[in-house]
Amino acid sequence: MSTPIAIIGTGMAGLSAGQALVEAGLEVRFFEKSRGSGGRMASKRSDVGSLDLGAQYFTARDRRFADAVQQWRDRGWVAPWKPSLYQWSAGGLSPSADEQVRWVGTPRMSAVSRALLGALPVEFSCRITEVFRGDQYWHLQDAEGRSHGPFSHVIIATPAPQAANLLAAAPKLASVAAGVTMEPTWSVALGFEQPLDTPLEGCFVQDSPLDWIARTGSKPGRESRPDSWVLHASNDWTRHNLDLPKEQVIEALHGTFAELIGCVVPSPSFALAHRWLYARPGGPHQWGALADGDRGLYACGDWCSSGRVEGAWLSGQEAARRLVSYLQ
Ligand code: FAD
Ligand code: NAI
Repeated sequence: MSTPIAIIGTGMAGLSAGQALVEAGLEVRFFEKSRGSGGRMASKRSDVGSLDLGAQYFTARDRRFADAVQQWRDRGWVAPWKPSLYQWSAGGLSPSADEQVRWVGTPRMSAVSRALLGALPVEFSCRITEVFRGDQYWHLQDAEGRSHGPFSHVIIATPAPQAANLLAAAPKLASVAAGVTMEPTWSVALGFEQPLDTPLEGCFVQDSPLDWIARTGSKPGRESRPDSWVLHASNDWTRHNLDLPKEQVIEALHGTFAELIGCVVPSPSFALAHRWLYARPGGPHQWGALADGDRGLYACGDWCSSGRVEGAWLSGQEAARRLVSYLQ
């Protein structure tokens, strides 16, 4: 048996890299600090059904990603979402339909990562704290003091601040990752007993504490009762209110939602808040992936690319491509 490749992180970037490596005939093993896969594409099960608290949808502009998404569609993992779209700015609310195809996992966003992971070997609830090299092979240390290995190569597929720590064995890569700032986002879900009296199903918001609004029931395959909504705060508002207690975040964003949505908004029968500390990179980068081919250490993630689901997938492909071409 060959020595496997370790992949830290089961978000879109890590899973994309893993798929490409398996297709190239290599063996991979995933490590994930959470209890499930998906990272920022995760969904949360709740009393009002599954909620997409992170990525809301994704677009496919790169041909390679578009081809992959078509395959996912054929397998029933994703479907197009066609919301009744609006935009809100200081001038008010207005319809804002367009022709853009927007994809979502079905019946929830996390369906994509579950399907991509399939039966590949993974250790969940396993936070890696150190990546170190022995005489010949790589080993990983986790937060509980256990070590894992040996591995021929390691791909670090976490947000940049977490990658910087894990890249200590390759100081140049570590300093590139450490130079990436990532912006936070508060995400709030609200459930209402009676459907709100509005045709709005998705809304881009500007000049407001909010940045985005989505109606869960408008996405394909979701439960529509009771009427549940996901609100994303702007990065600015989140940064200024990073440590606000969740109840106050819910109250503030519910208030903003009620002001701009243009219909009566009662008190929610259900509410939760989730803080994404590393929601998106401060700007796009064009590294594709970071690689130290001689050492066999790689890093990928949306922060190496466009800061979107598509960018994460492309970055994972690029890390795998560099690793495989180094072997040839
Ligand atoms: P992640 O998804 O963050 O995956 C990294 C994984 O590594 C995580 O599962 C994490 O738990 C794990 N991990 C971290 N550290 C360790 C460790 N030490 N040990 C083990 N595991 C570790 N993109 C779009 O295209 N469209 C959208 O509408 C959209 N909306 C968004 C809304 C929000 C609120 C957020 C937060 C993001 C949104 N994005 C959107 C961005 C999109 O979700 C990301 O670009 C993409 O999912 C990033 O994938 P990734 O694999 O690079 O990172
Ligand atoms: P996209 O093309 O739908 O949106 C890109 C941007 O274009 C939007 O943010 C919006 O400002 C504008 N836009 C697009 N269609 C519009 C319309 N019909 N009316 C008014 N404005 C419109 O999708 P893309 O490029 O794939 O971007 C992904 C989305 O994910 C973006 O909305 C981005 O803000 C969001 N995102 C959010 C993060 C967060 O932390 N909240 C993190 C990463 C991405």
